Amino acid sequence: LPPEHADMMEAHELIAKFYNHLLMNTNEGSIALEYLLNRGFTEESIQKFQIGYSLPSWDFSLKFLEKRGFHTELLEKAGLVAVRDKDNSHFDRFRDRIMFPLLNSQGRIVGFSARSLTKENQPKYLNTPETEIFNKSSLLYNYYNARSKIRKQGYAILFEGFADVISADSAGVHNGVAVMGTSLTEQHIHLLKRLTDSILLCFDSDSAGAEAAYRSGTMLVKKGLTVTVAMLPSKMDPDDYIMKFGAEKFREDVIGNPQTWMAYKLIYFRNGKNLQNEGDKLEYINQAMKEIGELDNPVERDIYLRQLSEEFSLSLTALSEQLQQIRETIPKQKPKEKELVIQPEPSVTKS
Ligand code: GTP
Ligand code: MN
Ligand code: MN
Ligand code: MN
Ligand code: MN
Repeated sequence: LPPEHADMMEAHELIAKFYNHLLMNTNEGSIALEYLLNRGFTEESIQKFQIGYSLPSWDFSLKFLEKRGFHTELLEKAGLVAVRDKDNSHFDRFRDRIMFPLLNSQGRIVGFSARSLTKENQPKYLNTPETEIFNKSSLLYNYYNARSKIRKQGYAILFEGFADVISADSAGVHNGVAVMGTSLTEQHIHLLKRLTDSILLCFDSDSAGAEAAYRSGTMLVKKGLTVTVAMLPSKMDPDDYIMKFGAEKFREDVIGNPQTWMAYKLIYFRNGKNLQNEGDKLEYINQAMKEIGELDNPVERDIYLRQLSEEFSLSLTALSEQLQQIRETIPKQKPKEKELVIQPEPSVTKS
């Protein structure tokens, strides 16, 4: 670890402690604390996730850290302070926000996601920009703390928002992680694969969440992971659900009752379609047939084909025939053992 990076992390860790103190023990932090408790955050989870509050000051954090020996340039590089265009002076990036520390896979704080307390203060979440120590396409929120639980339980839960990770954790579900508002990347998948081959997706139940789940699931399956999908009532996210229905119902009905990836895809394809409409119906049947055609297991193919035949009163013979045609167009799976092609030794021709 380059000394400069260690200093940046130390600055984050020091200020995170102070933000947490402001939130928990001071008058200045009381509105933020009340907001969190009203939302259902517990004191225990606030401490576990080292949540804090940044003052509505332009230079409190800057001065606090400078006083402790950190150079302005280092704090700027770490993303904790920003620079004014007009005179190149420095100011706190995070002001009057709830501070969520972001830990890298070694458990070091490398950034913050900072939530505004009001709708007027936009954006809702302000994140540390990309820095030498913070790369959002390779950071999974809660990865460090969830590692052993993911290994033990044999799967990881991928949430859309890190607030959902915290809520789920308070609800007794400790193997959750989240990307930081970006799409899932190969680096995220690589991190997950170190711990497990099985991912439960638990995204917000709106069209953005459904699409993100479809995209993420497709990537994960392509990388050889097993994917299942937890379903929530329309327009809810896991955090909302836990607030409304409680921890036990979340664990049992949502986390404990996921859809298979195939079943999820069929649900996803139906979204926004009117199956009474001939065109929509045909489009759905074609999408479903294509997915069924890609299943390797003949028994599974049979199950979904029968479902489709019953639901739309279609002849199983016709469907089977179409499936046969579809499967002929799918490129054959790579043979298990690669053919050994013995290359002739290149002749050494020295010139
Ligand atoms: P709450 O409203 O606090 O419950 O947030 P949420 O967890 O429900 O987040 P939401 O579903 O709106 O968004 C999911 C994730 O996208 C968040 O956890 C963030 O990582 C990211 N995100 C949402 N809004 C913003 C934003 O304004 N800026 C940035 N950078 N990221 C955002
Ligand atoms: Mn500067
Ligand atoms: Mn959302
Ligand atoms: Mn959400
Ligand atoms: Mn939410």
